[in-house]
Amino acid sequence: MIKQAIIPLAGLGTRLLPLTSVFAKELLPINGKPGIEYILDECIEAGIKEIIFIISKKKKMIKRYFYNDNFYKKIILKKKDPRIINEYKKILKYKKMIKFVYQNKPLGTGDAVLKTKKYIKDKFFLMLLPDDLIVKNNCAKSMIKVHKKYKSSVMASMNVNKKTVSRWGIYKLKKRIDKKNYIISDVVEKPSIKNAPSNKAVIGRYILPKKIFSKLLMQKPGKNSEIHITDSIQSLIKENYKFIAHNFSGKYLDCGSMNGYIKSSMEISKL
Ligand code: G1P
Repeated sequence: MIKQAIIPLAGLGTRLLPLTSVFAKELLPINGKPGIEYILDECIEAGIKEIIFIISKKKKMIKRYFYNDNFYKKIILKKKDPRIINEYKKILKYKKMIKFVYQNKPLGTGDAVLKTKKYIKDKFFLMLLPDDLIVKNNCAKSMIKVHKKYKSSVMASMNVNKKTVSRWGIYKLKKRIDKKNYIISDVVEKPSIKNAPSNKAVIGRYILPKKIFSKLLMQKPGKNSEIHITDSIQSLIKENYKFIAHNFSGKYLDCGSMNGYIKSSMEISKL
């Protein structure tokens, strides 16, 4: 069973400046609700019991959002507003599940994952990238089903426009195993159009094996001098670890860029 999830939240969010000059991008409201709550709800509905937030000193605001008990208690005493009581209950429910670890230098997603090493208990865990919202269908839940069936690692996947391959992790297919799932033979972080093995991109949902930590410990910086989870995944694939690309059925919303962020509020308001 997959019971633990990790969420890297130490990113600077430069694509959303100026909003992120004072604000954590993951707390920005998407149709009236902080982006991170959509991700938490996806995890809870998928049966996750513990969620590890990788934050930084600069992103302490995220911790404060969940640890503002005195503030809520005072307001509730004064106002007894049922809406606020409900919101506080929701925050308490989230807070119980969340653990915080720190990544103070933005050295990449691989480095963020490594910070959770001593907290991961089971053989596999889930990682969700908070810029990637997937609505209409619970992607984490579908991926956990695939993991149970094939006992392997799984990554969310989507076809992208060939012109945009250098924005993503791109993989090469080995074999189709059923309607929505494929075995991966190679994955490369942000390749040039010329070097891209396909137009199939990794989207921010991963079921990773604990074994990844031993690769991350040795991982050299790659693209843009960052430590990429993609590069360690590629090392495991080369050692015959099975990774499945899961073509999810939900709708993908890219909340990490200004255009995508604006569009996501509009899309969610239509649901
Ligand atoms: C990260 C991953 C990349 C993946 C993308 C999905 O990139 O490194 O492989 O395709 O998320 O959103 P980032 O968005 O951090 O540049």
